[in-house]
Amino acid sequence: MQTFLHGRDLIGDLDFSKEEVETVMDVAFDLKRKRALNEPHAYLRDKVLAMLFFFSSTRTRGSFEAGIAQLGGHGAFIESKTTQIAHGDTPKEIGEIFGRYFDGIAIRHCDWGVGNQYLNDVAKYSRVPILNMQCDIYHPFQCLADLMTIWEKKGRDLRKKKMVVSWAYAESYSKPISVPQSLIVQMPRFGCDVVLARPPEFKLMPEIMDMAQAEAKKAGVAFDVVEDMDEAFKDADIVYAKSWGPLVHTTDAKEGEAITKKYSSWITNEKRMKLAKEDAIYMHPLPADRNIEVTDGVIDGPNSVVYDQAENRLHAQKAVMALTM
Ligand code: CP
Repeated sequence: MQTFLHGRDLIGDLDFSKEEVETVMDVAFDLKRKRALNEPHAYLRDKVLAMLFFFSSTRTRGSFEAGIAQLGGHGAFIESKTTQIAHGDTPKEIGEIFGRYFDGIAIRHCDWGVGNQYLNDVAKYSRVPILNMQCDIYHPFQCLADLMTIWEKKGRDLRKKKMVVSWAYAESYSKPISVPQSLIVQMPRFGCDVVLARPPEFKLMPEIMDMAQAEAKKAGVAFDVVEDMDEAFKDADIVYAKSWGPLVHTTDAKEGEAITKKYSSWITNEKRMKLAKEDAIYMHPLPADRNIEVTDGVIDGPNSVVYDQAENRLHAQKAVMALTM
């Protein structure tokens, strides 16, 4: 077990080694048990986390704010639009100044080509850990909660388990590509055979694909890409199907919309779930476009674990905060 995580940033999924992620999981399960038993666990008494949002959130905000309070600290919710960032505060100012006020700086910045760079720029000047609440490239805390949920449902030995990470159609907005990217780099390390399914215009970043291939090779597991949702679902143990924008293909919103409309048949429905194993779990980070991205029957059905997933955001994030701050 690797326990020396104090002061560390978590920006990309591979910032923590496999052993360090195992430590996070161990602490997360302990904190989940403590909360269930009403056992106090104020490991971060008097510590304050800055929570800087450039983009909206339900789960991430709620779980970080509740989590830091349960650890005995306080979360300062800061929307970028209410700051002086638009008037000139640079990442250097945020890193230098917030690093002196706060004990950790959590940031959500999903703007394509901007977010991840922003977090790394703040990290360069911050004396306290930078925690990635989702950027344009990664969503590491979602992925930690997903791993925790998969361990709960499928056990810790994931060898020979087939995990499908699939694109799905949605109309609400062009969703970031960070969730599938985090999943394909992290999950092979824990033994899953990962199948990525997506239409041709919904490729993930080439450098992330290279990282996923390398992690799969290192772990001795399979990593395959298909362009057919049905083919991907066949005999799957874990189905993780969500929408993302065609951002690698085009950043033109109108062109992206037209491309997306071609694939409205990419929905997770009862018929498709029947292609997977009978005990397959259905996962989604939420929010989902109900009856467009996934049917009510699936998301509210017996295979769905979406609320356990959302709950585990709390425990996984508390673990990382307690270990790093
Ligand atoms: N899954 C997730 O990150 O949810 P929010 O966007 O609501 O935070």
